[in-house]
This record gives sequence, structure tokens and C-alpha cells, in this order.
Amino acid sequence: MTQAQKRGIVNLRSKYACDLETIKDIGSLFPTPGPLALEIGFGNSDNLISSAAARPNTNYIGCEVHPPGVAQALIAIEDCGLTNVKIFYRDVHDLVMGLGDLSLDSVDIFFPDPWPKKKHIKRRLVQSKFLEILALKLKRNGIFRFSTDNLAYALDVLELTRHNKCWRNLAGERLWSPRPTQRVITRFEEKARKAQSEIFEISMCCLI
Ligand SMILES: C[S@@+](CC[C@H](N)C(=O)[O-])C[C@H]1O[C@@H](n2cnc3c(N)ncnc32)[C@H](O)[C@@H]1O
Repeated sequence: MTQAQKRGIVNLRSKYACDLETIKDIGSLFPTPGPLALEIGFGNSDNLISSAAARPNTNYIGCEVHPPGVAQALIAIEDCGLTNVKIFYRDVHDLVMGLGDLSLDSVDIFFPDPWPKKKHIKRRLVQSKFLEILALKLKRNGIFRFSTDNLAYALDVLELTRHNKCWRNLAGERLWSPRPTQRVITRFEEKARKAQSEIFEISMCCLI
């Protein structure tokens, strides 16, 4: 991390980060009530920050474990004067376990680590147990968006949600969705584009 990023974390964390205690009362985290959107693994935070700036009436939680990305997000929140975004700087499993049921309007996971080797597949973020928890935390008709350039991962997510009464594929069974128009091109999306990899988009509606 650069010195500026280290300073960003030290000076801004208490102002813009949330933790296991403060997420218990989500309403008190933001000055204005509004729909609550979660972006998991926001990387360099470009999409999180531009989403929060473009939609001031929506509240955002960004979750990330990579310190430089967290620092970049905290500095951007300060520079842009955003009051509708908070950072959870820990593993997302802790966040979702700590959040109240039916608290989220949307969950975005864009280009999660694909763990392509067979022996590493268990390390993938989106697994059946994780989808079960997300379904509890999302409101009814809440949206889960997932993007990857790893076909095997994308097919697994489609399959896990296909036989599941909690989810409806917005594109129709076994089908890919269009790219979410509101997403700015993320760092890993850019990499996939440069490599001319196909990108698979999944949009699910929570039914419970
Ligand atoms: C491949 S990067 C994608 C970053 C960004 N979404 C993009 O498209 O450029 C995956 C990100 O997920 C984060 N991540 C992985 N596991 C996580 C977890 N359990 N909780 C929170 N963030 C996680 C990583 O630190 C990394 O920044």
C-alpha cells in the first residue's frame, strides 16, 4: 500500500466504515432512509463509488478485504462527500451473518475470484450455503447480480439457483442476462474484455 492509502485507512475508517456492531442497526448508519444495496468484493471501488454518486437516494454497503481497495474507497467517499456509502472491511461471511434478515434490496458480485482449479473450487464465494444466506438477507423481489468470465463458475451459479425455490432467473431458466447498464466497467471486467473473454451475467430475483 502507498503511504496515502495507509493514511486513508487510519484517518477515514472510523468515519466511513461499518462493523459488526453498527450493522445491527442499519437504519442508523445513513442520514437518509432508502433502499440498501450491497456490493461484495468491490475491488478498486470504481463501480461502488460511481453508483453511490449517481443514486443518492440509495444507501450502499461495500464489502472488501483487500486493503488498497478499501483505502481507495474511503478516500473517494471523503473526496466526493458521499453520505450514502459505508465500507465493511472484513470477510463478507461475517457481514451477511451479522445483517438482519430482509435488510437488502440488492446484492452485486462482479467478477469474484474464479478459483478455476478443481481442488480450489471450495474457495469460491458463491456456493449453495452462501446463496441460502443471501436469500434470507434480501427482501422479497430483491435482486442478486453476478458476473464472471469463468463459464464453469457461471454455470454452477445457474444450476444452484435453478432448483431452488428462493430464486427466479430474470432472463428465464438457464439463460444469461444482459450486462447491467448501470455498472461502470470494473477492473476485472476490463481485463476480461482485453483478453476477449466472454462475460456471463446472471440476474436473479429473490422469491422468499
Ligand atoms: C477478482 S476481484 C474483482 C474486483 C471487482 N469486483 C472487479 O470486478 O474489478 C475479487 C475481489 O473480491 C474480494 N474478496 C474475495 N473474497 C472476499 C470475501 N470473502 N469478502 C470480501 N471480499 C472478498 C477480493 O479481495 C477482490 O478484491
